[in-house]
Amino acid sequence: MKLQVQPKLIIHGGAGSSLHGKGGIETVRKLLYQVVEEVYSLLCSGKTAMQAVVRGCQMLEDEPCFNAGTGSVLQSDGQIRMSASLMDGTKQSFSGVINVSRVKNPIDLAQALQSSPDRVLSDYGAAELARELQIPSYNALTELRLQEWIKERQENFQRAMAGVVAQPDLRESSNARRGTIGVVALDTYGNLAAGTSTGGKGFERLGRVSDSAMPAGNYATKYAGVSCTGIGEDIIDECLAARIVVRVTDGMSLRQAMERSFAEAEQNKRDLGAIALDAQGAIAWGKTSQVLLAAFHNGEKIGDTLELPEGTEVGALEE
Ligand code: GLY
Repeated sequence: MKLQVQPKLIIHGGAGSSLHGKGGIETVRKLLYQVVEEVYSLLCSGKTAMQAVVRGCQMLEDEPCFNAGTGSVLQSDGQIRMSASLMDGTKQSFSGVINVSRVKNPIDLAQALQSSPDRVLSDYGAAELARELQIPSYNALTELRLQEWIKERQENFQRAMAGVVAQPDLRESSNARRGTIGVVALDTYGNLAAGTSTGGKGFERLGRVSDSAMPAGNYATKYAGVSCTGIGEDIIDECLAARIVVRVTDGMSLRQAMERSFAEAEQNKRDLGAIALDAQGAIAWGKTSQVLLAAFHNGEKIGDTLELPEGTEVGALEE
């Protein structure tokens, strides 16, 4: 197959409150850059956007620092239930799993469902799929997440969101937690794909469904792809990923679509962030939260959003 397009890549490890201390930011930067380097090299070697997104999501799910896969936060009953989705922009095909337990990489289940007639499965169905695929049972619990849960339970902490990062020295406080991981890729063949995975908000009611396994949180067409992070209910209310992608599909530039969508989100007092690519190779990010943990490769070098000013920010690198 002929290589035609300069690949582009953007990833995120969540959004949330400020990360104080250079050490904290540098640690997150190093983790994100490792993923960008490996996944971007896959794109350069001719792997498809879908393959790159799955690999990127696996790497981020495997990093206990982020709230997805290993290191997922615990729900109100002390159990981990994870959600993930994958969207092939070229086929405009969405697949995902909701509230799945005991798998290492929920994104693998979303990938398997791409070729299934039933493309979004919840708890029991997702567990049955994992069994059919002979995916080994895996405990995603980390000691830190367990201690967080115990501490907050002891303090009868009323809280509403899930963590950016798990390492205590990277968190401003344990109550400011909004975590998700996501990857959007443009491959050398011009295909876009987006993937998103999360452990949820933490302490949520049983059966709560995350935006990460909905087109509100993860969406792509052949024109653009978006992965969101932040408070799931806010992302759902804005239908953010689909909203941005549809605007680009209807003719807006990616920058305009991000600016319009984030102005609306700010007006509605939402707490969220998003990363995006378009088919022309524009890279964009936006947030209403204090920080967005995103990094990207523009074909020449790696950059990130770790030191953006607090408050609503939208940025784009256009071709
Ligand atoms: N954005 C992740 C969640 O709220 O579940």
